[in-house]
Amino acid sequence: MKIVAIMGSPRRGGNSDIMLDAFLSPRDSLHSLEWIVPSRLNLGFCRGCRFCEAMGRCILRDDMDEVGEKLLEADKVVLSSPVFFYGFPASLKALVDRAQVFWSRKYKMGEKFKPKEGFLLAVGATSGGKLFEGIVLTTRYFFDAWGCEYRGGLFFRGFDQKGAIGECQECLEEIKEAGRSFLSSKNS
Ligand SMILES: Cc1cc2nc3c(=O)[nH]c(=O)nc-3n(C[C@H](O)[C@H](O)[C@H](O)COP(=O)(O)O)c2cc1C
Repeated sequence: MKIVAIMGSPRRGGNSDIMLDAFLSPRDSLHSLEWIVPSRLNLGFCRGCRFCEAMGRCILRDDMDEVGEKLLEADKVVLSSPVFFYGFPASLKALVDRAQVFWSRKYKMGEKFKPKEGFLLAVGATSGGKLFEGIVLTTRYFFDAWGCEYRGGLFFRGFDQKGAIGECQECLEEIKEAGRSFLSSKNS
């Protein structure tokens, strides 16, 4: 089984990183693991040019070529991200917008992608009831564009300082349990 982990925060060693490590810790060592860290990649912004709708590929040539291969080959995907202004950090959002090429291939050209399953881990500093609504919607539609079914998420409010979630043993246990269950289940 191929697992792909997307680390959405530009802050390495922060809360999203810690959540992702905890989630992946129960995985079977036989499973392959690929990392995608958008803030470390050379990813241009989607130009909205619609070249992909006509041609089935993006007009830009950069690290998205490799990211796309990883996404399409995955069986399980876990995305971990902080909330930035009720959305995703810009580097992750750049990647999400570039998935428009898969949306075009799927919905304009009728291509069928290998089915995958995806999980979201998200963290924010405040406690608002709607804190995660934006990124859940974006995640659902981002996943869907390349044949990945959204299987749920875990959401943590009130964590702001770098690594603060690492002090919450209850949170880490909950994340590990979700990882164990998600990564050990067969894709439906
Ligand atoms: C640019 C920026 C925007 C943010 N916007 C929000 C926000 O809208 N709501 C919120 O609750 N926290 C917001 N935060 C706080 C982060 O979500 C929080 O610090 C999170 O724990 C960071 O996770 P990380 O350590 O993985 O980067 C923002 C932080 C930054 C740097």
